[in-house]
Amino acid sequence: MAFTVNVKNASGFAPALAEREVLAAHETLVNGTGRGNDFLGWVRLPLQNNEEELARIEAAAAKIRSNSQVLLVIGIGGSYLGARAAIEFVRSPNYNLVVKDSPQVIFAGNTLSAWQTAEIFDMLEGKDVSVNVISKSGTTTEPAVAFRLFREYMEKKYGVEGAKERIYATTDKAKGALKSLADANGYPCFVIPDDVGGRFSVLTPVGLLPIAVAGIDIRQMLAGAKSMAEKLIHDKSMHNPAWVYAATRNALYRKGYTTEIFASYEPRVRYTAEWWKQLYGESEGKEGKGIFPASVELTADLHSMGQYIQEGERFLMETVVGFAEADETLQVPFALKNEDGLNFLAGHAVSELNNMAEAGTILAHMDGGVPVMEVTVDNASAYCFGELVYFFEFACGLSGYLLGVNPFDQPGVEAYKQNMYALIGKPGFEDRRAELEKRL
Ligand code: PA5
Repeated sequence: MAFTVNVKNASGFAPALAEREVLAAHETLVNGTGRGNDFLGWVRLPLQNNEEELARIEAAAAKIRSNSQVLLVIGIGGSYLGARAAIEFVRSPNYNLVVKDSPQVIFAGNTLSAWQTAEIFDMLEGKDVSVNVISKSGTTTEPAVAFRLFREYMEKKYGVEGAKERIYATTDKAKGALKSLADANGYPCFVIPDDVGGRFSVLTPVGLLPIAVAGIDIRQMLAGAKSMAEKLIHDKSMHNPAWVYAATRNALYRKGYTTEIFASYEPRVRYTAEWWKQLYGESEGKEGKGIFPASVELTADLHSMGQYIQEGERFLMETVVGFAEADETLQVPFALKNEDGLNFLAGHAVSELNNMAEAGTILAHMDGGVPVMEVTVDNASAYCFGELVYFFEFACGLSGYLLGVNPFDQPGVEAYKQNMYALIGKPGFEDRRAELEKRL
Protein backbone atom coordinates (compact mmCIF):
# COMPACT_ATOMS: atom_id res chain seq x y z
CA MET A 1 0.00 0.00 0.00
CA ALA A 2 1.25 3.45 -0.72
CA PHE A 3 0.10 7.02 -0.19
CA THR A 4 -3.29 7.44 -1.88
CA VAL A 5 -5.86 10.12 -2.58
CA ASN A 6 -9.34 8.81 -3.33
CA VAL A 7 -12.01 11.20 -4.60
CA LYS A 8 -14.58 8.70 -5.82
CA ASN A 9 -17.03 9.95 -3.18
CA ALA A 10 -16.50 13.59 -4.16
CA SER A 11 -16.04 13.86 -7.91
CA GLY A 12 -19.74 13.47 -8.78
CA PHE A 13 -20.63 16.66 -6.90
CA ALA A 14 -19.06 19.19 -9.27
CA PRO A 15 -17.79 19.36 -12.86
CA ALA A 16 -14.08 18.48 -12.96
CA LEU A 17 -11.52 21.21 -13.58
CA ALA A 18 -9.85 21.18 -17.00
CA GLU A 19 -6.50 19.40 -16.85
CA ARG A 20 -4.80 22.33 -18.59
CA GLU A 21 -5.83 24.63 -15.75
CA VAL A 22 -4.19 22.35 -13.18
CA LEU A 23 -1.12 22.04 -15.41
CA ALA A 24 -0.85 25.84 -15.54
CA ALA A 25 -0.98 26.05 -11.72
CA HIS A 26 1.66 23.29 -11.53
CA GLU A 27 4.01 25.10 -13.93
CA THR A 28 3.50 28.37 -12.05
CA LEU A 29 4.44 26.70 -8.78
CA VAL A 30 7.33 24.56 -9.97
CA ASN A 31 8.86 27.19 -12.28
CA GLY A 32 8.34 30.00 -9.78
CA THR A 33 6.53 32.32 -12.15
CA GLY A 34 3.55 33.29 -9.98
CA ARG A 35 2.74 35.68 -7.17
CA GLY A 36 4.73 35.02 -4.00
CA ASN A 37 7.52 33.33 -5.92
CA ASP A 38 10.11 34.63 -3.47
CA PHE A 39 8.67 32.17 -0.92
CA LEU A 40 9.13 28.92 -2.80
CA GLY A 41 12.19 27.61 -0.95
CA TRP A 42 10.09 24.81 0.57
CA VAL A 43 9.34 23.27 -2.88
CA ARG A 44 12.83 21.78 -3.33
CA LEU A 45 13.91 21.85 0.31
CA PRO A 46 13.58 18.06 0.83
CA LEU A 47 15.68 17.43 -2.30
CA GLN A 48 18.64 19.26 -0.79
CA ASN A 49 20.96 17.34 1.47
CA ASN A 50 22.13 19.80 4.09
CA GLU A 51 24.25 17.34 6.06
CA GLU A 52 26.03 20.00 8.09
CA GLU A 53 22.79 21.52 9.35
CA LEU A 54 21.24 18.13 10.10
CA ALA A 55 24.29 17.10 12.11
CA ARG A 56 24.12 20.38 14.11
CA ILE A 57 20.44 19.81 14.83
CA GLU A 58 21.05 16.21 15.89
CA ALA A 59 23.93 17.25 18.14
CA ALA A 60 21.82 19.95 19.81
CA ALA A 61 18.94 17.48 20.22
CA ALA A 62 21.29 14.90 21.79
CA LYS A 63 22.58 17.51 24.25
CA ILE A 64 19.04 18.57 25.21
CA ARG A 65 18.02 14.93 25.62
CA SER A 66 20.98 14.32 27.90
CA ASN A 67 20.66 17.37 30.15
CA SER A 68 16.94 18.22 30.20
CA GLN A 69 13.67 16.69 31.31
CA VAL A 70 11.73 19.40 29.49
CA LEU A 71 12.20 21.24 26.23
CA LEU A 72 10.19 24.45 26.23
CA VAL A 73 9.36 25.42 22.66
CA ILE A 74 8.40 29.09 22.35
CA GLY A 75 6.67 30.01 19.09
CA ILE A 76 3.31 30.66 17.44
CA GLY A 77 1.61 29.70 14.18
CA GLY A 78 4.05 28.17 11.73
CA SER A 79 6.73 28.39 14.40
CA TYR A 80 5.10 25.68 16.52
CA LEU A 81 2.19 23.85 14.87
CA GLY A 82 4.33 21.62 12.64
CA ALA A 83 6.51 20.36 15.49
CA ARG A 84 3.51 19.69 17.68
CA ALA A 85 1.77 17.90 14.80
CA ALA A 86 4.79 15.66 14.18
CA ILE A 87 5.28 14.77 17.85
CA GLU A 88 1.62 13.85 18.31
CA PHE A 89 1.40 12.00 14.97
CA VAL A 90 4.57 9.93 15.31
CA ARG A 91 4.88 9.55 19.08
CA SER A 92 1.51 10.16 20.77
CA PRO A 93 -1.17 12.78 21.36
CA ASN A 94 -0.40 12.09 25.03
CA TYR A 95 3.35 12.44 24.48
CA ASN A 96 3.99 14.37 27.70
CA LEU A 97 2.01 11.87 29.78
CA VAL A 98 3.38 8.55 28.56
CA VAL A 99 6.55 6.86 29.86
CA LYS A 100 9.38 7.59 27.40
CA ASP A 101 13.11 8.02 27.03
CA SER A 102 12.94 11.60 25.72
CA PRO A 103 12.19 14.96 27.38
CA GLN A 104 8.72 16.41 27.68
CA VAL A 105 8.04 19.04 25.05
CA ILE A 106 5.96 21.94 26.33
CA PHE A 107 4.75 24.64 23.95
CA ALA A 108 4.63 28.26 25.11
CA GLY A 109 4.38 31.66 23.43
CA ASN A 110 1.36 30.64 21.37
CA THR A 111 -1.00 32.63 23.59
CA LEU A 112 -1.14 35.78 25.70
CA SER A 113 -3.11 33.94 28.38
CA ALA A 114 -1.57 34.61 31.78
CA TRP A 115 -3.26 31.52 33.24
CA GLN A 116 -1.75 29.25 30.64
CA THR A 117 1.70 30.80 30.93
CA ALA A 118 1.70 30.73 34.73
CA GLU A 119 0.75 27.05 34.62
CA ILE A 120 3.82 26.33 32.50
CA PHE A 121 6.05 27.79 35.20
CA ASP A 122 4.45 25.31 37.62
CA MET A 123 5.07 22.46 35.18
CA LEU A 124 8.80 23.33 35.01
CA GLU A 125 9.18 23.20 38.79
CA GLY A 126 11.94 20.80 39.87
CA LYS A 127 12.87 19.84 36.31
CA ASP A 128 15.90 20.56 34.16
CA VAL A 129 14.85 22.66 31.20
CA SER A 130 16.13 23.76 27.80
CA VAL A 131 14.42 26.38 25.65
CA ASN A 132 14.03 26.59 21.88
CA VAL A 133 12.69 30.04 20.97
CA ILE A 134 11.42 30.13 17.38
CA SER A 135 10.37 33.20 15.40
CA LYS A 136 11.13 33.91 11.79
CA SER A 137 10.46 37.62 12.05
CA GLY A 138 11.92 37.72 15.54
CA THR A 139 9.37 40.36 16.46
CA THR A 140 6.08 38.49 17.05
CA THR A 141 4.59 39.71 20.31
CA GLU A 142 3.33 36.42 21.81
CA PRO A 143 6.65 34.49 21.66
CA ALA A 144 8.67 37.64 22.41
CA VAL A 145 6.78 38.21 25.67
CA ALA A 146 7.00 34.51 26.60
CA PHE A 147 10.73 34.48 25.88
CA ARG A 148 11.30 37.50 28.09
CA LEU A 149 9.50 35.69 30.92
CA PHE A 150 11.19 32.30 30.47
CA ARG A 151 14.61 33.76 29.80
CA GLU A 152 14.47 35.51 33.15
CA TYR A 153 13.40 32.17 34.69
CA MET A 154 16.31 30.34 33.03
CA GLU A 155 18.85 32.95 34.13
CA LYS A 156 17.60 32.82 37.72
CA LYS A 157 17.68 29.03 37.69
CA TYR A 158 21.00 28.42 35.91
CA GLY A 159 22.74 31.82 36.03
CA VAL A 160 23.42 33.87 32.89
CA GLU A 161 26.25 31.60 31.75
CA GLY A 162 24.36 28.40 32.53
CA ALA A 163 21.29 29.63 30.64
CA LYS A 164 23.42 30.14 27.52
CA GLU A 165 24.04 26.40 27.51
CA ARG A 166 20.32 25.72 27.43
CA ILE A 167 18.77 28.34 25.15
CA TYR A 168 18.58 27.77 21.38
CA ALA A 169 17.20 30.36 18.94
CA THR A 170 15.65 29.50 15.56
CA THR A 171 15.22 32.65 13.49
CA ASP A 172 16.29 34.67 10.47
CA LYS A 173 19.96 34.45 9.48
CA ALA A 174 20.58 38.17 9.97
CA LYS A 175 17.63 40.35 10.95
CA GLY A 176 15.07 40.76 13.73
CA ALA A 177 15.16 41.39 17.45
CA LEU A 178 15.55 37.69 18.29
CA LYS A 179 18.63 37.35 16.10
CA SER A 180 20.26 40.42 17.72
CA LEU A 181 19.39 39.17 21.19
CA ALA A 182 20.70 35.67 20.47
CA ASP A 183 23.96 37.00 19.04
CA ALA A 184 24.45 39.41 21.94
CA ASN A 185 23.97 36.57 24.44
CA GLY A 186 25.80 33.84 22.57
CA TYR A 187 22.81 31.51 22.13
CA PRO A 188 23.30 28.89 19.40
CA CYS A 189 21.21 29.86 16.36
CA PHE A 190 19.44 27.81 13.69
CA VAL A 191 18.39 29.53 10.49
CA ILE A 192 14.94 29.73 8.89
CA PRO A 193 15.59 30.25 5.17
CA ASP A 194 14.44 33.62 3.74
CA ASP A 195 12.36 31.93 1.07
CA VAL A 196 10.37 29.64 3.38
CA GLY A 197 7.31 31.16 5.05
CA GLY A 198 6.31 30.20 8.61
CA ARG A 199 3.50 27.80 7.71
CA PHE A 200 5.76 25.96 5.22
CA SER A 201 8.67 25.67 7.65
CA VAL A 202 8.16 22.38 9.53
CA LEU A 203 10.91 20.65 7.51
CA THR A 204 13.44 23.41 8.40
CA PRO A 205 15.12 23.73 11.83
CA VAL A 206 11.79 25.24 13.03
CA GLY A 207 10.35 21.75 13.20
CA LEU A 208 13.45 19.59 13.06
CA LEU A 209 15.02 20.51 16.41
CA PRO A 210 11.98 19.96 18.67
CA ILE A 211 10.97 16.90 16.65
CA ALA A 212 14.45 15.38 17.04
CA VAL A 213 14.41 16.11 20.79
CA ALA A 214 11.18 14.09 21.00
CA GLY A 215 13.08 11.07 19.69
CA ILE A 216 11.75 11.12 16.14
CA ASP A 217 14.05 10.16 13.28
CA ILE A 218 14.17 13.44 11.33
CA ARG A 219 16.17 11.81 8.51
CA GLN A 220 13.29 9.39 7.95
CA MET A 221 10.84 12.29 8.01
CA LEU A 222 12.88 14.14 5.40
CA ALA A 223 13.18 10.95 3.33
CA GLY A 224 9.37 10.70 3.24
CA ALA A 225 9.09 14.34 2.19
CA LYS A 226 11.79 13.81 -0.46
CA SER A 227 10.07 10.84 -2.05
CA MET A 228 6.81 12.79 -2.15
CA ALA A 229 8.56 15.87 -3.61
CA GLU A 230 10.11 13.78 -6.39
CA LYS A 231 6.71 12.37 -7.28
CA LEU A 232 4.71 15.61 -7.09
CA ILE A 233 7.18 17.92 -8.83
CA HIS A 234 7.66 15.64 -11.83
CA ASP A 235 4.27 14.04 -12.42
CA LYS A 236 2.31 16.40 -14.68
CA SER A 237 -0.84 14.30 -14.90
CA MET A 238 -4.00 13.47 -13.07
CA HIS A 239 -2.03 10.59 -11.45
CA ASN A 240 -0.35 13.23 -9.32
CA PRO A 241 -2.16 12.97 -5.96
CA ALA A 242 -1.71 16.69 -5.28
CA TRP A 243 -3.38 17.49 -8.61
CA VAL A 244 -6.30 15.24 -7.69
CA TYR A 245 -6.78 16.83 -4.26
CA ALA A 246 -6.27 20.46 -5.35
CA ALA A 247 -8.42 20.10 -8.45
CA THR A 248 -11.26 18.34 -6.61
CA ARG A 249 -11.48 20.83 -3.74
CA ASN A 250 -11.36 23.78 -6.15
CA ALA A 251 -14.04 22.25 -8.38
CA LEU A 252 -16.21 21.81 -5.28
CA TYR A 253 -15.51 25.36 -4.10
CA ARG A 254 -16.67 26.76 -7.44
CA LYS A 255 -19.89 24.80 -6.99
CA GLY A 256 -20.56 26.40 -3.59
CA TYR A 257 -18.84 24.01 -1.17
CA THR A 258 -17.04 26.71 0.75
CA THR A 259 -15.95 24.87 3.92
CA GLU A 260 -13.62 21.89 4.04
CA ILE A 261 -13.62 19.71 7.13
CA PHE A 262 -10.42 17.80 7.87
CA ALA A 263 -11.60 14.63 9.58
CA SER A 264 -9.61 11.87 11.21
CA TYR A 265 -10.47 8.81 13.23
CA GLU A 266 -7.17 8.87 15.14
CA PRO A 267 -6.51 11.41 17.92
CA ARG A 268 -2.82 11.37 16.98
CA VAL A 269 -3.78 13.40 13.87
CA ARG A 270 -5.40 16.23 15.90
CA TYR A 271 -2.48 18.65 15.59
CA THR A 272 -1.85 17.71 11.98
CA ALA A 273 -5.35 19.12 11.45
CA GLU A 274 -4.38 22.30 13.34
CA TRP A 275 -1.25 22.63 11.20
CA TRP A 276 -3.33 22.02 8.02
CA LYS A 277 -5.85 24.69 9.05
CA GLN A 278 -3.11 27.30 9.32
CA LEU A 279 -1.52 26.16 6.05
CA TYR A 280 -4.72 26.40 4.04
CA GLY A 281 -6.43 29.21 5.95
CA GLU A 282 -3.51 31.63 5.70
CA SER A 283 -2.62 30.62 2.17
CA GLU A 284 -6.08 30.84 0.62
CA GLY A 285 -8.26 33.11 2.75
CA LYS A 286 -7.74 36.49 1.08
CA GLU A 287 -9.17 38.88 -1.49
CA GLY A 288 -12.68 37.88 -0.38
CA LYS A 289 -12.05 34.28 -1.43
CA GLY A 290 -10.98 30.92 -0.03
CA ILE A 291 -12.23 27.61 1.32
CA PHE A 292 -12.73 27.84 5.10
CA PRO A 293 -10.67 25.05 6.73
CA ALA A 294 -12.26 23.36 9.74
CA SER A 295 -11.60 20.07 11.51
CA VAL A 296 -13.34 17.32 13.43
CA GLU A 297 -12.06 14.35 15.38
CA LEU A 298 -14.13 11.24 14.81
CA THR A 299 -15.87 9.28 16.07
CA ALA A 300 -16.02 11.73 19.05
CA ASP A 301 -17.41 14.62 17.01
CA LEU A 302 -20.01 12.42 15.33
CA HIS A 303 -21.78 12.83 18.67
CA SER A 304 -21.64 16.62 18.44
CA MET A 305 -20.89 18.01 14.97
CA GLY A 306 -22.16 14.86 13.25
CA GLN A 307 -25.74 16.13 13.15
CA TYR A 308 -24.75 19.30 11.29
CA ILE A 309 -22.45 17.50 8.90
CA GLN A 310 -25.20 15.01 8.05
CA GLU A 311 -28.17 17.35 7.76
CA GLY A 312 -27.19 21.02 8.16
CA GLU A 313 -26.74 23.62 5.44
CA ARG A 314 -25.05 22.04 2.41
CA PHE A 315 -21.78 23.88 1.87
CA LEU A 316 -19.43 21.32 3.41
CA MET A 317 -16.83 19.09 1.85
CA GLU A 318 -14.81 16.63 3.93
CA THR A 319 -11.27 15.29 3.72
CA VAL A 320 -10.65 12.15 5.75
CA VAL A 321 -7.02 11.54 6.65
CA GLY A 322 -6.40 7.93 7.61
CA PHE A 323 -3.98 5.02 7.87
CA ALA A 324 -3.77 1.87 5.74
CA GLU A 325 -2.25 -0.15 8.59
CA ALA A 326 -4.03 -0.72 11.86
CA ASP A 327 -3.07 -1.90 15.33
CA GLU A 328 -5.05 -5.11 15.70
CA THR A 329 -3.71 -6.17 19.09
CA LEU A 330 -6.59 -4.75 21.11
CA GLN A 331 -9.64 -6.99 20.76
CA VAL A 332 -13.12 -6.89 22.27
CA PRO A 333 -13.24 -9.63 24.96
CA PHE A 334 -15.96 -12.30 25.25
CA ALA A 335 -18.19 -11.86 28.33
CA LEU A 336 -19.96 -14.90 29.80
CA LYS A 337 -23.15 -13.07 30.74
CA ASN A 338 -23.17 -10.72 27.75
CA GLU A 339 -24.99 -8.10 29.86
CA ASP A 340 -24.08 -5.33 27.42
CA GLY A 341 -25.09 -7.42 24.39
CA LEU A 342 -21.68 -6.94 22.76
CA ASN A 343 -20.67 -10.59 22.34
CA PHE A 344 -21.30 -10.29 18.60
CA LEU A 345 -18.13 -8.14 18.60
CA ALA A 346 -16.03 -10.53 20.71
CA GLY A 347 -12.69 -11.29 19.04
CA HIS A 348 -12.91 -8.31 16.71
CA ALA A 349 -10.08 -5.79 16.80
CA VAL A 350 -11.09 -2.34 18.10
CA SER A 351 -9.37 -0.89 15.02
CA GLU A 352 -11.75 -2.94 12.85
CA LEU A 353 -14.69 -1.20 14.53
CA ASN A 354 -13.01 2.15 13.91
CA ASN A 355 -12.55 1.25 10.23
CA MET A 356 -16.20 0.25 9.92
CA ALA A 357 -17.28 3.47 11.62
CA GLU A 358 -15.15 5.38 9.11
CA ALA A 359 -16.45 3.49 6.07
CA GLY A 360 -20.07 3.82 7.19
CA THR A 361 -19.71 7.51 7.98
CA ILE A 362 -18.10 8.34 4.64
CA LEU A 363 -21.08 6.80 2.82
CA ALA A 364 -23.60 8.45 5.16
CA HIS A 365 -22.02 11.87 4.70
CA MET A 366 -21.89 11.42 0.95
CA ASP A 367 -25.54 10.34 0.91
CA GLY A 368 -26.30 13.44 3.00
CA GLY A 369 -24.77 15.71 0.36
CA VAL A 370 -21.21 16.08 1.65
CA PRO A 371 -18.51 15.22 -0.91
CA VAL A 372 -15.77 13.21 0.77
CA MET A 373 -12.10 12.99 -0.24
CA GLU A 374 -9.77 10.45 1.40
CA VAL A 375 -6.04 10.85 1.97
CA THR A 376 -4.41 7.65 3.24
CA VAL A 377 -0.88 7.10 4.49
CA ASP A 378 0.57 3.70 5.36
CA ASN A 379 1.19 4.24 9.06
CA ALA A 380 2.15 6.74 11.75
CA SER A 381 5.89 6.67 11.04
CA ALA A 382 8.18 9.68 10.66
CA TYR A 383 8.50 8.77 6.97
CA CYS A 384 4.73 8.91 6.42
CA PHE A 385 4.46 12.19 8.32
CA GLY A 386 7.07 13.64 5.96
CA GLU A 387 5.09 12.40 2.96
CA LEU A 388 1.87 13.90 4.30
CA VAL A 389 3.43 17.28 5.10
CA TYR A 390 4.94 17.70 1.66
CA PHE A 391 1.75 16.50 -0.04
CA PHE A 392 -0.41 19.08 1.74
CA GLU A 393 2.16 21.86 1.17
CA PHE A 394 2.46 21.18 -2.57
CA ALA A 395 -1.32 20.80 -2.97
CA CYS A 396 -1.75 24.08 -1.08
CA GLY A 397 0.51 25.95 -3.49
CA LEU A 398 -1.36 24.46 -6.46
CA SER A 399 -4.72 25.16 -4.88
CA GLY A 400 -3.89 28.80 -4.14
CA TYR A 401 -2.89 29.39 -7.76
CA LEU A 402 -6.07 27.64 -8.96
CA LEU A 403 -8.01 30.00 -6.70
CA GLY A 404 -6.16 32.99 -8.15
CA VAL A 405 -4.52 34.29 -4.97
CA ASN A 406 -0.95 34.65 -3.73
CA PRO A 407 -0.71 31.56 -1.50
CA PHE A 408 2.46 32.73 0.20
CA ASP A 409 1.57 36.03 1.86
CA GLN A 410 -0.62 36.80 4.87
CA PRO A 411 -1.48 40.51 4.75
CA GLY A 412 -4.60 39.99 6.89
CA VAL A 413 -2.56 38.84 9.90
CA GLU A 414 -1.31 42.42 10.26
CA ALA A 415 -4.71 43.99 11.07
CA TYR A 416 -5.01 42.61 14.60
CA LYS A 417 -1.32 43.24 15.26
CA GLN A 418 -1.62 46.94 14.40
CA ASN A 419 -4.58 47.35 16.78
CA MET A 420 -2.88 45.36 19.55
CA TYR A 421 0.35 47.36 19.21
CA ALA A 422 -1.66 50.60 19.44
CA LEU A 423 -3.61 49.47 22.50
CA ILE A 424 -0.56 48.19 24.41
CA GLY A 425 1.21 51.49 23.76
CA LYS A 426 3.91 50.46 21.28
CA PRO A 427 5.89 53.59 20.28
CA GLY A 428 4.84 54.87 16.85
CA PHE A 429 1.18 53.81 17.20
CA GLU A 430 -0.07 56.83 19.22
CA ASP A 431 -2.56 58.14 16.61
CA ARG A 432 -4.10 54.76 16.06
CA ARG A 433 -4.41 54.26 19.81
CA ALA A 434 -6.37 57.50 20.22
CA GLU A 435 -8.64 56.52 17.35
CA LEU A 436 -9.26 53.01 18.73
CA GLU A 437 -9.88 54.22 22.25
CA LYS A 438 -12.74 56.36 21.00
CA ARG A 439 -14.35 53.23 19.57
CA LEU A 440 -13.91 50.97 22.60
O1 PA5 B 1 2.73 31.45 8.36
C1 PA5 B 1 3.18 32.46 8.88
O2 PA5 B 1 4.07 33.11 8.34
C2 PA5 B 1 2.71 32.95 10.25
O3 PA5 B 1 1.60 32.32 10.73
C3 PA5 B 1 3.84 32.81 11.25
O4 PA5 B 1 4.20 31.47 11.32
C4 PA5 B 1 3.46 33.30 12.64
O5 PA5 B 1 2.86 34.56 12.59
C5 PA5 B 1 4.70 33.37 13.52
O6 PA5 B 1 5.63 34.26 12.97
P1 PA5 B 1 7.14 34.34 13.44
O7 PA5 B 1 7.75 33.03 13.19
O8 PA5 B 1 7.73 35.44 12.62
O9 PA5 B 1 7.12 34.68 14.91
